[in-house]
Amino acid sequence: MMQPIGVFDSGVGGLSVLKALRQALPQEKFVYVSDAGHAPYGERDVTHVLARSVAVGNYLVQSHQVKALVVACNTATAAAIAALRAAYPALPIVGVEPALKPAAARSRTSAVGVLATRSTLASDKFQALLQAQSPQVRFVLQACDGLAAAIECADAPQIHALCARYAAALGPVGSAPGAIDTVVLGCTHYTFAADVLQDLLGPDVALIDAGHPVAQRTANLLAHATAVQPAHTDAAAWVELWTTGETQTLGGAAKRWLVGTGLARHVEIA
Ligand code: DGL
Repeated sequence: MMQPIGVFDSGVGGLSVLKALRQALPQEKFVYVSDAGHAPYGERDVTHVLARSVAVGNYLVQSHQVKALVVACNTATAAAIAALRAAYPALPIVGVEPALKPAAARSRTSAVGVLATRSTLASDKFQALLQAQSPQVRFVLQACDGLAAAIECADAPQIHALCARYAAALGPVGSAPGAIDTVVLGCTHYTFAADVLQDLLGPDVALIDAGHPVAQRTANLLAHATAVQPAHTDAAAWVELWTTGETQTLGGAAKRWLVGTGLARHVEIA
């Protein structure tokens, strides 16, 4: 039997990671779960995010026998990756966290903006990551309340308004000394607002997300795993999309961003 790779997020954001996974692992089959029925995660308390992440992880392992799990959500990774690894010690599990280190390495002005959910920025995991960075680099943290929700429902005016507010809140941006020249997209939803943010921040600011590093890490882990991994032959069947919310939301986003894959099914995950 061909075992798929499980990928989940609170909503459509993880499709940005799925896209990178598909490029890195074109032979693999994926099962994607959007937990939109219980989202957004980023402004909820950590016990909710932990319980939901474990429930979705259990569903992917028990109902789809996944051979690896990608937590395609910064908020869920911060809240739940330790619990998921404890529950499934033999399963390769990859999480996503704001790409502070690559951003710091890229910045010429030594000033980096970080856009993420309130919950991610408040987490112990993020605070530890921040402490591990070079003290020479100034990090400006900005919680983006409402932005993931606006992206989820493709509300273009609201996406623009919130991006404008949060981009302005970062302070001076650009290549001048002391200005922020690198911005971390620390929520997987924000990749889908990258064009809007780039327009607002200007051409001298680089945006960094973690889709490709996560995909590469997953590929490396699978290359070392012993499970047999036959290639799937049916190109149309490379992904199954499941949502605890509205099927049109996930299907529509997948159609826009994954090209030709618009069929999503509903599932209740208790
Ligand atoms: N996409 C999720 C993340 O990466 C969060 C979105 C939400 O708030 O539900 O953090």
